[in-house]
Amino acid sequence: MSFRVVDVDLPDRAYEVRIGRGALDELAEEARVLLGPKARRVLLVRDTGVPDRFVDTLVKDLGGAGFETRVCAITPSESIKTMATVEALLREAITLGMTRVDAVIAVGGGVVGDIAGFVAASYQRGVPVIQCPSTLLSMVDASVGGKTGVNLEVGGELYKNMVGAFHQPRLVVADTELLDSLDARQRRCGLAECVKHAMICGGVPDEDDGHSELLGWMLRELDRIVAFEPGAIDELVARNVALKASVVMGDERESPDAKSGGRMLLNFGHTFGHAIETLEGLSPSGDPADAPLHHGEAVALGMCSACAAAESMGLCDESVVTVLREMLVRIGLPTVVGGLPGVDSIVARMSHDKKAAGGALRLILPEGLGRCVIISDAPKESLEAGLVAIRG
Ligand SMILES: NC(=O)c1ccc[n+]([C@@H]2O[C@H](COP(=O)([O-])OP(=O)(O)OC[C@H]3O[C@@H](n4cnc5c(N)ncnc54)[C@H](O)[C@@H]3O)[C@@H](O)[C@H]2O)c1
Repeated sequence: MSFRVVDVDLPDRAYEVRIGRGALDELAEEARVLLGPKARRVLLVRDTGVPDRFVDTLVKDLGGAGFETRVCAITPSESIKTMATVEALLREAITLGMTRVDAVIAVGGGVVGDIAGFVAASYQRGVPVIQCPSTLLSMVDASVGGKTGVNLEVGGELYKNMVGAFHQPRLVVADTELLDSLDARQRRCGLAECVKHAMICGGVPDEDDGHSELLGWMLRELDRIVAFEPGAIDELVARNVALKASVVMGDERESPDAKSGGRMLLNFGHTFGHAIETLEGLSPSGDPADAPLHHGEAVALGMCSACAAAESMGLCDESVVTVLREMLVRIGLPTVVGGLPGVDSIVARMSHDKKAAGGALRLILPEGLGRCVIISDAPKESLEAGLVAIRG
């Protein structure tokens, strides 16, 4: 079978992302070649949301390729994305008898990928990990770039992704057939990250990769994308992975001084989004049964706020706000939300990110369609304008 392949060309740590329906079928053979003849054991961390048949076939194939496999199942949530879960998996690795030539394979969404990646980064100071993302968000974003980690609860507050390591995978296999079982809300959340990529596409290093075309392509193909037509989805994943790979290759470790923004550009919509994501009782539809917001929904709202803030500063014109809103509405993502607390308390939550970044509140704001810049310490009135724009 032929798959789309995106190369992540990092010095000494280059790897491929294989994309397409059925890509998992070739993983066991690939793993044998990549890991070499001495590798004997695999710790397979699987998401319980992934249909069993994919995992069962993979375990059988790994056996055929000479691997002893231990399967550990995780039902993802931010509250199990903890050191305790990492420790439990490290114990499994020890009782399995894993050595440094053996590997961790993650089959799941971003939660499973982040946990399993961190287990691989820490076990015996680092063993190979193969990421097999199973949600759209993890295919286009989380599985590529080597960020791994877990949350930490301190004083009753959850600090997201506070503990972790950069640990690049040896291979990423995005089998888009796995997306068939993904529910509509999770699909929309993955599309929010694709919209984010489209909104920053003009600032991503482009060596004839066509990244700058991403926004235009997405707008043209949006009906097929929203209908989840397999051909459109495979191309969507490949284009988004290629863009993320270019950003990562230009700035592997999110340096604050990276040229033209680097990985920080990927935070577009996230500073506003993080501040409202964990607020209780916010619902994307207005129906309390749908509360709280999912990450992608908070990012959609955060992008609307960022655009409105940029417009209020005279950084971009109204057309940017209009194009973004129309795209989100066509996808079914929220652009306004009821029940937001006062502006001051949200701005205070945004400053949490500011502390984490060591001082300045840095926002990624659009200056045109597909072009974003980093703005330090935007005026409070602009933050207010951003928040007023999403108040339902
Ligand atoms: N490492 C990074 O660079 C990075 C980037 C973005 C997000 N993240 C992290 O990713 C996480 C979010 O990831 P996510 O959106 O994939 O959510 P998730 O991992 O919580 O998965 C969402 C839901 O989809 C289910 N699921 C997974 N695969 C499925 C399938 N094939 N069919 C049906 N259901 C399936 C899961 O069981 C879960 O209920 C967050 O913890 C975030 O911090 C990491």
